[in-house]
Amino acid sequence: MFAARQTFNLFQKRAFSASASQASKVAVLGAAGGIGQPLSLLLKLNPRVSELALYDIRGGPGVAADLSHINANSNVSGYNPTPEGLRDALKGSEIVLIPAGVPRKPGMTRDDLFNTNASIVRDLAKAAAEASPEANVLVISNPVNSTVPIVSEVYKARGVYNPKRLFGVTTLDVVRASRFISQTQKTDPSKEVVPVVGGHSGVTIVPLLSQSGHPSIAGEARDALVNRIQFGGDEVVKAKDGAGSATLSMAMAGARFAESLLRAAQGEKGVVEPTFIDSPLYKDQGVDFFASRVELGPNGVEKIHEVGKVNEYEEKLLEACLGDLKKNIQKGVDFVKANP
Ligand code: NAD
Ligand code: LMR
Repeated sequence: MFAARQTFNLFQKRAFSASASQASKVAVLGAAGGIGQPLSLLLKLNPRVSELALYDIRGGPGVAADLSHINANSNVSGYNPTPEGLRDALKGSEIVLIPAGVPRKPGMTRDDLFNTNASIVRDLAKAAAEASPEANVLVISNPVNSTVPIVSEVYKARGVYNPKRLFGVTTLDVVRASRFISQTQKTDPSKEVVPVVGGHSGVTIVPLLSQSGHPSIAGEARDALVNRIQFGGDEVVKAKDGAGSATLSMAMAGARFAESLLRAAQGEKGVVEPTFIDSPLYKDQGVDFFASRVELGPNGVEKIHEVGKVNEYEEKLLEACLGDLKKNIQKGVDFVKANP
């Protein structure tokens, strides 16, 4: 309760600096789901959002009616699950967040979600490419390593692809990393920064502890921490025991990324978030998308940070990451080519 009030007060304070001319429409596709609902709540509490458009194949209008009673200025609308409803939800959006799709159950990998989620994301991307081609698209649906390339292929086929405006949301990996390292070091998690690069599944998640505030963590302690960051999602899937995967921490992470984009769009400089994007960093090795720290700006991606200096251990993690990542990306690309 205290934390919720703190968050609200923070947003209220920021409201004074976000002027009315900076109206921003944000659409959530999959808004009635486990992530969609708390994410929409956090966006409703954000004064930088002037209009919130909620779409789902079921329950969008109900979630919108509920949120619309919160005494914050933004308008909230729920849309019917029809092509027209989806188009209207998307039209005029500055940011489109996509948490639509099925979550994992124990024993599954994120790649096991591909068969269901690939076509969901492809179809939503088609609608977004038509109705809001210039919006920033934030893909949450798993497997992110493949769903982001799916969106890029859909946009390319329609001649509207702008690599600066497509983002795979990997924020939860750094949120977890700062929390987990603080637990081992008995420090304040909000002050811990651990760069995490690569992708968003298992060994493609590469934490760079050598660039954290605790570069000397070594041996078994290092191995355990790296493993926990790489497989943090599994911890939640197991604990939820068949009822899904991370939703609340993901909502926080998604809302943070959207807030960062809005701050950057509204002129703030030096806003940096990790994100999985069309990146030049490993293209020479055939890996077209890669997550690293990215400076955001009014045009989306402003500057892609290099991975930086890594140690021998992290070199090996990167090697394992790139092999898997390449396959995951190709799978997404091939899917759209075979199922346009
Ligand atoms: P959920 O099942 O609770 O919610 C998904 C929602 O999507 C449901 O309300 C469903 O009706 C809706 N939906 C399905 N098809 C749709 C379509 N075509 N159009 C619009 N809405 C549609 O699942 P969840 O827990 O919210 O997870 C959603 C996705 O997010 C999963 O794929 C999960 O793996 C992923 N996820 C990603 C991260 C990350 O870090 N990127 C973190 C957690 C979960
Ligand atoms: C996560 O990291 O929590 C998500 O990708 C969901 C999952 O399947 O683990």
